[in-house]
Amino acid sequence: MDWSTLVAPQLRALKAYQPGITAEKLRRESGLTEVFKFSSNEAPIKPSPLIEAAMCAALGNANRYPDAQALLDKLAEHLGVPVASLALGNGSIDLIEGLVRLFVSAEHNVVLSEFGYSAYPAFVLGQGAKIRIARSGANFGHDIDNLLAQVDADTRLLLIDSPTNLSGAELAYADITRLLEQLPPHVVVVLDEAYAEFAGNAEKTAKLPQRYPNVVITRTFSKAYGLAGLRVGYAIADAGLLGYFHRIRPPFPVGGVALAGALAALEDSAHLALILNATRSGRQRLLEALAEEGVTVVAGTGNFVLADFGPAAKPVYEGLLALGFITRAMSAYGLPTHIRISIGAAAEIEMLIVAIAHLLQAHLNPHADQRHSALVTS
Ligand SMILES: Cc1ncc(COP(=O)(O)O)c(C=O)c1O
Repeated sequence: MDWSTLVAPQLRALKAYQPGITAEKLRRESGLTEVFKFSSNEAPIKPSPLIEAAMCAALGNANRYPDAQALLDKLAEHLGVPVASLALGNGSIDLIEGLVRLFVSAEHNVVLSEFGYSAYPAFVLGQGAKIRIARSGANFGHDIDNLLAQVDADTRLLLIDSPTNLSGAELAYADITRLLEQLPPHVVVVLDEAYAEFAGNAEKTAKLPQRYPNVVITRTFSKAYGLAGLRVGYAIADAGLLGYFHRIRPPFPVGGVALAGALAALEDSAHLALILNATRSGRQRLLEALAEEGVTVVAGTGNFVLADFGPAAKPVYEGLLALGFITRAMSAYGLPTHIRISIGAAAEIEMLIVAIAHLLQAHLNPHADQRHSALVTS
């Protein structure tokens, strides 16, 4: 069967989104028993006992469809926004996909940023719409003037991530409001704040939809709350907008166990603080070690760093993988000298630092002894 003749024409040439390699896949394919994952910007800390207990309790109700009200109410209180301005999704990416479906059809274009999150284009092309790309600015972040310059009469949506998935570059609050002030009223903005809790604007940006009804904020429990496996995200938007949004959504997008876990995570502020503190100190340690090796790191916030290894990027990435360290090569983003490294657990970061130092040394001095495994297990 030649499916390419049946798939929608605008999607035939699309490349699949490349998620980070999972630890299980590397274990299966390499035979390595010890594998360390630094590739998908997850938290390296397991759910707290409170979160786990809440999820276990919810298991007993698995015969019933879930009720999301308790999580919605808690989120509204936590964010200081009306409960009618909240919607939940199966991860924030589910909400972003739904928002594109709600607003965009074939006669429209969507403005994206050059180094925006790579999952977006498929959603736009799926609607048969066009993509207009704005050149990125400093640190691979978004440039407001370039974004505005791409907007025309057919633009229906502007979709950007801040901090960005690529470098962690964060838009200043004043730049976000300047963008919102200057956009024509026919453009809806989706501001993807998957990394909001690591950055500085979260409290203020949560309230943006109250002042600018054409902006939707999306956030997630996958990063700072450490619950990527549960798939829970939320959107903050104008209640009127959500009235339409709910019409196109599947019933019960988030399962009961995931709802219970997310609610417990919101109530367990100590666990959030633990993840934020571990991320901060791990990030600092990694930045210092990379600087010592002469590796340039792009300025940003988030639970990861984007580092420029120059010509050593490929051998370092491949060498790390061979040793069981999964990082993210950035060649698919057109940045062949960069590697993105998520902040792992402290002990794993130390092992990673040793491995990087060794691989850089081996790259500079290829004839030196290379006993990788001895290094990592020591
Ligand atoms: C910028 C950005 N947006 C959205 C997502 C998806 O997050 P979720 O797990 O909430 O679907 C990610 C995940 O890495 C991301 O980096």
